[in-house]
Amino acid sequence: MKKLEIIIKPGVFEKIKAVLTELGVHGLNYSEIRGFGRQRGHKEVYRGTIMQVDCLPKIKVEVVVHDEAFEKVVDAVVSTVRTGQVGDGKIFVSDVADAVRIRTGERGDMAL
Ligand SMILES: Nc1ncnc2c1ncn2[C@@H]1O[C@H](COP(=O)(O)OP(=O)(O)OP(=O)(O)O)[C@@H](O)[C@H]1O
Ligand SMILES: [Mg+2]
Repeated sequence: MKKLEIIIKPGVFEKIKAVLTELGVHGLNYSEIRGFGRQRGHKEVYRGTIMQVDCLPKIKVEVVVHDEAFEKVVDAVVSTVRTGQVGDGKIFVSDVADAVRIRTGERGDMAL
């Protein structure tokens, strides 16, 4: 299993949620965060306005997916949100050792 932390602009969250659902993702978390990337101290477009970057509002989506699914999910997210401009976002991928569905005790892939 892989965990994807997908950091995106708030404006594309609904689109990402729809894409993930379409790909069969059964659960996700999102949080409203603030962050910066490489352009700190430079300029980034936010909601059509050029803003001095300190920490801009972003959405972080966390989703755990089957090993076979994660490349497809990454590709779908990238092709959905890429504008080619700075600040398009980032995806961090990590291995997940186990998962437990508390109701049934199912483990691993069965628990997703
Ligand atoms: N190394 C990092 N570690 C943790 N979070 C990061 C890191 N880099 C970026 N982020 C998060 O991702 C958000 C979007 O990053 P962003 O797309 O600007 O990345 P970037 O590396 O600056 O690429 P680009 O040059 O395309 O803008 C940041 O606002 C921050 O929340
Ligand atoms: Mg950046």
